[in-house]
Formats: sequence, structure tokens, C-alpha cells
Amino acid sequence: MSQFQEKTQIIRIERFASDIVRLTLDSPDITSLAQPGQFVMVRTGNSNDPLLRRPFSISQTSNGKHFQILFKVVGRGTSLLAHCREGEYLSILGPLGQGFRVDCQRTHCLVGGGMGIAPLLFLGKYLSRKCTSNPPLVILGARTREELDPLVNDFNELGLSVHSATDDGTLGHHGLVTDVLKGLDLGPNCQAYVCGPHPMMAAVHLLCKDRGYACQVSMETSMACGMGACLGCIVPVERGGYAHACCDGPVFDAKELLWQVK
Ligand SMILES: Cc1cc2nc3c(=O)[nH]c(=O)nc-3n(C[C@H](O)[C@H](O)[C@H](O)COP(=O)(O)OP(=O)(O)OC[C@H]3O[C@@H](n4cnc5c(N)ncnc54)[C@H](O)[C@@H]3O)c2cc1C
Ligand code: FES
Repeated sequence: MSQFQEKTQIIRIERFASDIVRLTLDSPDITSLAQPGQFVMVRTGNSNDPLLRRPFSISQTSNGKHFQILFKVVGRGTSLLAHCREGEYLSILGPLGQGFRVDCQRTHCLVGGGMGIAPLLFLGKYLSRKCTSNPPLVILGARTREELDPLVNDFNELGLSVHSATDDGTLGHHGLVTDVLKGLDLGPNCQAYVCGPHPMMAAVHLLCKDRGYACQVSMETSMACGMGACLGCIVPVERGGYAHACCDGPVFDAKELLWQVK
């Protein structure tokens, strides 16, 4: 699979909530190859601090030229990225990893929590164009309305309606995305696509198993190289041993993984 390492210009910066930022990057090469669920490795600073690139899902593509990453500031790398300016260049490697696998004969349910919503927007757009007779059902959760609202609007702009859940009850259901999923009967042909915090994905996986839904999850482990060389991203698998989240994933069939559910 082809990848590019290139200096990519930031053409737009949007700030949502106090610590959530979306960058639009100009890269026809990466954009034309990108598949929903794939990611890029981004050098976040001009010096050796931080030394390692940081992984971010490709959140949306447009015009065959531009792609977006959406991130929350959690540490040094994301803080540096949040302070970039329009017109600056970032060194980016991608697209990387195995994305979501789509079968249009199924019914589709997207379940995203927090920044795990990022790759689902690209997938939602892809499904709504490719599987026109089966538009996806979308369930999104975040801490607050301030965090969730702009992301819900993006899905609405694609013509997709969203079931929302917030921790503080300021938008949609007051509680978890799993509560919302529990209340819906999606039929045995359902394929869930899930990305978010590990406990949320584990809970959705168990619910899907119980209901007979297929379930794909995108694993956001820590990653040092993004290319299968460092073992930094390994996840335990059901058959024994480990898989690399960076090149065997990040998207896995949830049944293939070994879930340590407490
Ligand atoms: C395939 C993949 C796709 C991702 N896509 C996105 C995305 O679209 N948007 C986004 O906001 N983030 C995404 N992440 C997570 C993102 O890579 C990390 O938040 C980022 O690397 C943190 O870098 P930092 O230097 O700011 O923080 P660090 O200084 O590296 O870490 C700061 C704190 O954040 C925690 N942290 C670091 N990485 C993660 C992680 N993966 N999950 C949870 N906590 C973490 C650390 O344990 C530490 O407590 C993705 C991760 C992977 C593997
Ligand atoms: S991040 Fe290095 S092997 Fe996966």
C-alpha cells in the first residue's frame, strides 16, 4: 500500500470548545489514497521535542486535495499543533493502517465517543455516498454540548441524523452512547463501527455480541512509528499473541481482539 511523507500546508484552522481543534491540510497525494479509518503520523514541532510523530485519524477529505484532522489537546504534541498558524507546513506520513471494511448489504451503525468521532465522519460520508439504500445510523457521545454540537452539525450536513449523548446532559441523552444503542433494535444484519475510549468500545462490543451485530473497532493505542517497526502499539488478540494496531489495524473486527473487561 502506498504512503507519502511530505510537508503539508495548513490551509484552515477551526477551534471548537476550548481544547478541540480541526486542521485542514493540503495534500492531494494523501487525500487521493485515504480510506475511512486510516490515519496519519504528524510531526508536531520543528525541534526534536517531541521526538516522535503523533497519530491522528483522517477525519474528512474534500475536493480530492484536502484532508482534515480533528484533535483534543492532551499533552505536548497536541498543544504544539493547536498553536500552529494557517499557512504553516507540517511533516506528515500517511495514509497508514487498515481502515473500516464496508458491505453495503448490511445496515450500518456508527458509534463514536469523544475524539473517536473523528474517523467516523469520513466513514459516514463514504457510506452515505456508496450505500445509498442503507444510510448509516449515527450515535455520538461527548462530555458536553459545546464539544459535541459542531461534530453533530458535520453529520447533519451530510444528511445524517444523529442520536446524541452527553455526560452532563446538555445535548441529547444524559449518559452513555451504550444506553442509546441499547434502546435501538437494529436487526441481525447490523454492522457497528466504533471508535472512542477503550471502556466504551469494550461495552459496545459486548452489546453487539449479545445482539448478534457485527462490530468493527478502531484502536487508538500509543504509537511510536506507525509502520510496524517498534511494537509500541501492540494489542492482545483472541487467538493468542498480539497484533500491531498500526498496520494490522487500527480497525479490527472486535471479535478478533482479547478484551480485558472488568
Ligand atoms: C490510530 C490513532 C488515531 C488517533 N486519532 C486521533 C484523533 O483523530 N483525534 C485525537 O484527538 N486523538 C487521536 N489519537 C490520539 C492521539 O494520537 C493522542 O492524543 C496524541 O498522540 C497525544 O499526543 P500529545 O503529545 O499531545 O500527548 P502525550 O504527551 O503523548 O500524552 C498526554 C496524555 O494523553 C494520553 N494519551 C496519549 N495518547 C493517547 C491515546 N491514544 N488515547 C488516550 N490517551 C492518550 C497519555 O497517556 C498522557 O496521559 C489517535 C491515536 C491513534 C493511535
Ligand atoms: S507504532 Fe510502531 S509497531 Fe505500531
